[in-house]
Amino acid sequence: MAKITFITQDGKQLELTADTGSVMELAVNNSVSGIDGDCGGVCSCATCHVHVAPQDWEKTGSPGDMEKDMLEFDDNVTKFSRLSCQIPVTEAIDGITLKVAN
Ligand code: FES
Repeated sequence: MAKITFITQDGKQLELTADTGSVMELAVNNSVSGIDGDCGGVCSCATCHVHVAPQDWEKTGSPGDMEKDMLEFDDNVTKFSRLSCQIPVTEAIDGITLKVAN
């Protein structure tokens, strides 16, 4: 089980937990504002863009090549940008904080 904190653009903080799936699925299933998951999680829409809290970057790891290419076309990209559909929910990411980028 992993607990993930989302901070939306309007400053709301939501703590959610999951055992499986992707971080995007967790967010969409719980109506986290700003995470739409339009492509269903196949890394082709960037509507699941988040900024990982700097202290949590090691837990999520860096984006893969396909994800990097997709992020190049998105606004508001930082060095802590990830597409949340590409972050699987595992114990390894327990306790991370993500700021919704859109
Ligand atoms: S849901 Fe489309 S890129 Fe993540």
